[in-house]
Amino acid sequence: MKNKIYLTTPLYYVNASPHIGHAYTNVAGDVLAKFFRLTGREVYFLTGTDEHGQKIKKEAEIRGLSPLEFVDKMVENFYHLWEVLGIEYDDFIRTTEARHERVVKKVLEILYQKGDIYHSLYEGFYCVPCESFWAKPDIKEGKCPDCGRPLDFIKEKNYFFRLSHYQGWLIEYLESNPEFVRPSVRYNEVLSFLKGKKLNDLCISRPKQRLEWGIEFPFDSNYVTYVWFDALLNYISSVGVFYEENRFKGFWPADFHFIGKDILRQHAIYWPIILKALGIEPPQCVFAHGWWLIEQEDSLEKMSKSKGNIVNPLNLVKEIGKDALRFFLLREVPFGLDGKFSYKALVQRINSDLANDLGNLVFRSLNMVEKYFSGFTPPRGEPLPEYKEAVVNLLDKYTGFMRRVDFFQALESVWELVRVANKSVEERKPWILFKEKKTEALENFIYSLLEAIRIIAIHLYPFIPDTAQSIYTQLGLQRDLKKANLSEETKWGLLSQGLKIRKLPPLFPRIENI
Ligand code: MSP
Repeated sequence: MKNKIYLTTPLYYVNASPHIGHAYTNVAGDVLAKFFRLTGREVYFLTGTDEHGQKIKKEAEIRGLSPLEFVDKMVENFYHLWEVLGIEYDDFIRTTEARHERVVKKVLEILYQKGDIYHSLYEGFYCVPCESFWAKPDIKEGKCPDCGRPLDFIKEKNYFFRLSHYQGWLIEYLESNPEFVRPSVRYNEVLSFLKGKKLNDLCISRPKQRLEWGIEFPFDSNYVTYVWFDALLNYISSVGVFYEENRFKGFWPADFHFIGKDILRQHAIYWPIILKALGIEPPQCVFAHGWWLIEQEDSLEKMSKSKGNIVNPLNLVKEIGKDALRFFLLREVPFGLDGKFSYKALVQRINSDLANDLGNLVFRSLNMVEKYFSGFTPPRGEPLPEYKEAVVNLLDKYTGFMRRVDFFQALESVWELVRVANKSVEERKPWILFKEKKTEALENFIYSLLEAIRIIAIHLYPFIPDTAQSIYTQLGLQRDLKKANLSEETKWGLLSQGLKIRKLPPLFPRIENI
């Protein structure tokens, strides 16, 4: 029986080092994984690398390495970046692993025997950077309709998968499952594409004399598998399909495939059809996020290696820290829309939300505990009236948004409480309470403030885990938030009296220039 939350990221091509666009999908996946773990769910978060295909082969040749030497070296960049960004995946799959290759071969065999794979002449175009086949009517002025780069013309015998046979089924499936593709703009895009055009069968092989770097066809050793057909199967090979049936049943169907909108066709059309042909249920949801764009010569361009406009996440982490980057990526733009990446926006966001709103709140609150109570937490008290509504409603609102993968609104709901807390300090003027020796009122005020900060921190844990942990520690609490439970931690009154706080320098110093 399925009992786990199973979420996946795309498998990244290893031909180049990861940039902010790649980091984005993994940060988003990690935030959702941490959220579900915090609610007590068992999570299986999968990421990995796509290591076959023509462009990997080409890049290896340029460097004078064998494809295997090349991918073994390049995969390290991904391991390293995920560690630096605090991405806690449960599995990392590489398409060159034996556990994956055996599944690809098995699938080819099953579909061939079923008659869903046939041999025929392929005449058309191929885009190496996108690893995509295109028919003549698709192409624009001889260029790839997706990336605008030149295409190779191909005329050769190949194997095809009967995509067209399942078109009617997929339309019906989509019509009765409007949440299968999200956000709705992408759902509509897929549905109207399917309704407006007859699908071509998918060419799924490359003759070895042109490309040897791939998974060999089990029934014809003259061919290797087309890289997309190979790569999509990772979502089931990693969880034991065909070989560990019980394990597989515990995971499948996947709850979310997180992808960028550039690879929607493969995930929302090829993938459910491959599964249907295999008699396997489709995933619950393919969620396609937008692109990070960069301003270039008066126009906005997708960040990508070929355009030479990439931002290196490792450098950014060195400059602003891992949590600030994670936060920016999910707070700046609603997940699903495109976002414009700029240093100005990055600095503004960090300074206003993290340095001013959150960092100052924590720093000055702990300052008051030092000054007014010699660094010890005051006695427990009920929340002051201004906190009541903000605290009571927060958990439900936040959880609702997180379950809907609306990171932007989830953070906004936490910020409502941050604002309430900052306003409460301004309005209640604790320094006057102190001066006038109104000890009980001051105790109540500080207790409410500290509890609000603690509750803010636990909600922020999935986004900025080190910061949330630091806030807890500074409040004098010894808790490993990795093992915390959201509904327990959001109860008012967990902070007890007499804890020795451990104030540290401000969490996010203001950035003047980067
Ligand atoms: N290997 C395929 C995916 C196979 S999945 C079975 C692939 N790899 S990729 O390395 O080119 O890109 C993968 C993903 O990186 C994109 O879908 C997207 O999630 C992310 N991004 C790459 N550039 C991006 C932006 N500029 N902005 C946001 N995300 C982008 O495609």
